[in-house]
Amino acid sequence: MLFKLTDEQLMIQNMVREFSRKVIAATAAQRDKTKEFPAENFRQMGELGLMGMMIPEKYGGESADTISYVLALSEIAYSCASTSVVMSVQNSIVCESLYKYGTEEQKQQFLVPLASGKIIGAFALTEPEAGSDPVSQQTTAVRQKDHYVLNGTKRFITSGKHSKVVLVTAKTDESKGHKGISCFIVPKKTPGLVVGHLEDKMGLRASDTTDLIFENCRVPADLMLGKEGDGFKIAMSGLDSGRIGIAAQSYGVAMAAFDAAVKYAKQRKQFGMAISKHQAIRFQIADMATQIEAAKQLIFSVASMKDRKQPHTKQASMAKLFASEMVNQITARAIQIHGGYGFTKEYDVERFYRDARVFTIYEGTSEIQRIVISNQVLKDRRK
Ligand code: CAA
Repeated sequence: MLFKLTDEQLMIQNMVREFSRKVIAATAAQRDKTKEFPAENFRQMGELGLMGMMIPEKYGGESADTISYVLALSEIAYSCASTSVVMSVQNSIVCESLYKYGTEEQKQQFLVPLASGKIIGAFALTEPEAGSDPVSQQTTAVRQKDHYVLNGTKRFITSGKHSKVVLVTAKTDESKGHKGISCFIVPKKTPGLVVGHLEDKMGLRASDTTDLIFENCRVPADLMLGKEGDGFKIAMSGLDSGRIGIAAQSYGVAMAAFDAAVKYAKQRKQFGMAISKHQAIRFQIADMATQIEAAKQLIFSVASMKDRKQPHTKQASMAKLFASEMVNQITARAIQIHGGYGFTKEYDVERFYRDARVFTIYEGTSEIQRIVISNQVLKDRRK
């Protein structure tokens, strides 16, 4: 491996692996059926320091590096992708945005309980008519003395139901394009904020995805995150980190599907021998292993760039693009290797395939990642 893990990183990986395969895996298939949110698992993950890993200890986090975080997140994803998306959103786009842009009071009030895993947070950017193009969002925030009054609907919000606080973007000045978007910290109990439609999804079924409806929702002006007009920048820089998380999640699910496929190929006999002895299967295993390894190197590379505080927008999009496309291929191949059994709910690969499908869609589709990457490449070679 290009990156040699430190003793501390290895310790975190082993600790999370043990916890994930013992506790998280135990109910993952069942929760996929019942859609039950794993609240007790998140309580334990909070105690283990997994909900605000990269946040300094003084704000409830673990002061861990990004490499440790991607190791931990992929171990959780290995057992349950639904659990890992909540962990990813919480660690990156919620906690890191609060840490980076929050005032000391905001950090004490919101970051400490979030990073220590006492409460779950959500991030609300997407709207019914504004997904890939968040600048066209319609939610407004109008200043009235010491409050902003928010009106609008946010859609596809991860943890929309179970979160206790939400970072929400809204237009404070329609005339200024992306510079007219601001970000607010809104406690869920704020009057005028209602949880709307709960999506019935193909995968990630134990993670709730909802509408959030703001109707004359009065938010104190001191709960603005950053300055007026900073909302788009906060969202984009949060997504740089979020996309590393989705790449790590993709890697974790890919490893689970790959391990299942290899195990099955060694056990299943056809034509008088284990199917792993047939070249048709062996070559598939070789290709899968290579794709997974390539994704892993991209993920470690961007994680270490982030740890070195280097700009990493392009590399985060590359890792997210490659890893999310990769896991869709790996889970499809894992089903193919399982044959007819892979198409049944008897085997986990069916769940992995459904869970992975959204990875090329949320936190920016593969098409959006290509826009980000090409923008950065062309910018780098302007001269
Ligand atoms: N960090 C900080 N600032 C950034 C930035 C970054 N990574 N990327 C862009 N910006 C800033 C730019 O500097 C620029 O600011 P200035 O004008 O002050 O220089 C501003 O943002 C506009 O930048 P661009 O012109 O590059 O932006 P664009 O409009 O051409 O493209 C986009 C933007 C890449 C298409 C962007 O809209 C985008 O990423 N869209 C996808 C949105 C998305 O990923 N949504 C996912 C929803 S969240 C989710 O899924 C979470 C969940 O619950 C799982």
